[in-house]
Amino acid sequence: MRLLVVCLLFGAMGVFGAPEADEIKYLPGLPKQPSFKQYSGYFHVTENEHLHYWFVESQKDPANSPVVLWLNGGPGCSSLDGLLTEHGPFLIQNDGNSLNYNPYSWNMIANMLYLESPAGVGFSYSDNKNYTTNDTEVSMNNYLALKEFFRLFPEYRTNEFYLTGESYGGIYIPTLAERVMEDSSINLQGIAVGNGMSSYELNDNSLVYFAYYHGLLGTSLWTDLQTNCCKDGKCNFYNSTDRTCSYNVGQVANIVYRSGLNMYNLYAPCPGGVSTMSEENGQLVIYDLGNNFIEHEFSVSWNQKYRILVYNGDVDMACNFLGDEWFVESLQQQVQVKRRTWLFFNGKSQQVGGFVKEFSNLAFLTVKGSGHMVPTDKPIAAYTMFSRFLTKQPY
Ligand SMILES: *[C@@H]1O[C@H](CO)[C@@H](O)[C@H](O)[C@H]1NC(C)=O
Ligand SMILES: *[C@@H]1O[C@H](CO)[C@@H](O)[C@H](O)[C@H]1NC(C)=O
Ligand SMILES: *[C@@H]1O[C@H](CO)[C@@H](O)[C@H](O)[C@H]1NC(C)=O
Repeated sequence: MRLLVVCLLFGAMGVFGAPEADEIKYLPGLPKQPSFKQYSGYFHVTENEHLHYWFVESQKDPANSPVVLWLNGGPGCSSLDGLLTEHGPFLIQNDGNSLNYNPYSWNMIANMLYLESPAGVGFSYSDNKNYTTNDTEVSMNNYLALKEFFRLFPEYRTNEFYLTGESYGGIYIPTLAERVMEDSSINLQGIAVGNGMSSYELNDNSLVYFAYYHGLLGTSLWTDLQTNCCKDGKCNFYNSTDRTCSYNVGQVANIVYRSGLNMYNLYAPCPGGVSTMSEENGQLVIYDLGNNFIEHEFSVSWNQKYRILVYNGDVDMACNFLGDEWFVESLQQQVQVKRRTWLFFNGKSQQVGGFVKEFSNLAFLTVKGSGHMVPTDKPIAAYTMFSRFLTKQPY
């Protein structure tokens, strides 16, 4: 409470520009320094916690471009992944040292704020080194970070604002949105989540179908799964108490996560090659930190007419498209545009980017042939989708 009051006082005084000390004046590794401004520094969200940010201004009229927050998931992934390997203005090259400009950068049309959250991730830290947290606390600290952003960059206070993220961002973004929606000083317009974790139950149940119909399981295991996990046409691959079913689901998990496949993109090679240790190394990376009722958070946002986009690369197995499609369908919103292909121009011709189904204020969209990190795998399609999302055009 006290911190909020302090923020407001500073806010009232604020006709300061961007924080001079945070401006990046020279970035090593680039062929030539950028023409847009960029900043890196800390948002001091509590006495103890300091969250690192990297803010890249829009390459097109920053004063009138929207501001977009990006959060990678994990929990525990750095949002610099998003900046330096997905949709930032420059991407790390294979040599690991140099950067090259990305023609499909999301900062072509938006002021992009990359936040490393929670404390303990990347350059973000806590003075008392207590890194125990939960989803509620994370969303509060992310909200306080946004308040700090608008205090330090008052020139962006009235710009349109969007919350975006990926993977465990399926938890971070709606929980943060719920706080931002209650703050009328922030001009929130919409939220987008890519390959988001929205429901563990739907994610686990859908993954088994995904794996079978992408040729990973074979008929014998599929028959066993049907026999041991399904009744009256309904299957439970999530929390069945049947021991044979649990064993079969374990076999699926071994194939998907531990056999040497790339779980983030079925059709991509395994980085570094398949190791004989892969059985021991395989680990599901998503942990349930708290109890979230993501469904509730989504319903709050569409009722207030925010634009919501749930998009999925359709060959990801960490948060597969089918689970998120079932999740969006389970919300039972009114359909506005029936499921159809969406198109993008690849430089030569119009191509199918994937499929989209639009509900009132809510769209579910797939990106054909993309894994978990959509802008990395399909940069042109991802940029087209992002641009239509921000400009409120049909996909
Ligand atoms: C660390 O922080 C968590 C959550 O804020 C708290 O519950 C816990 O008691 C703290 N642990 C220590 C050792 O202070
Ligand atoms: C989350 O952490 C906050 C702050 O430490 C604490 O007040 C709250 O009870 C925790 N919530 C849950 C669900 O553990
Ligand atoms: C399985 O999960 C469902 C949905 O969350 C829940 O209603 C049910 O009680 C769970 N069953 C068991 C045995 O844990």
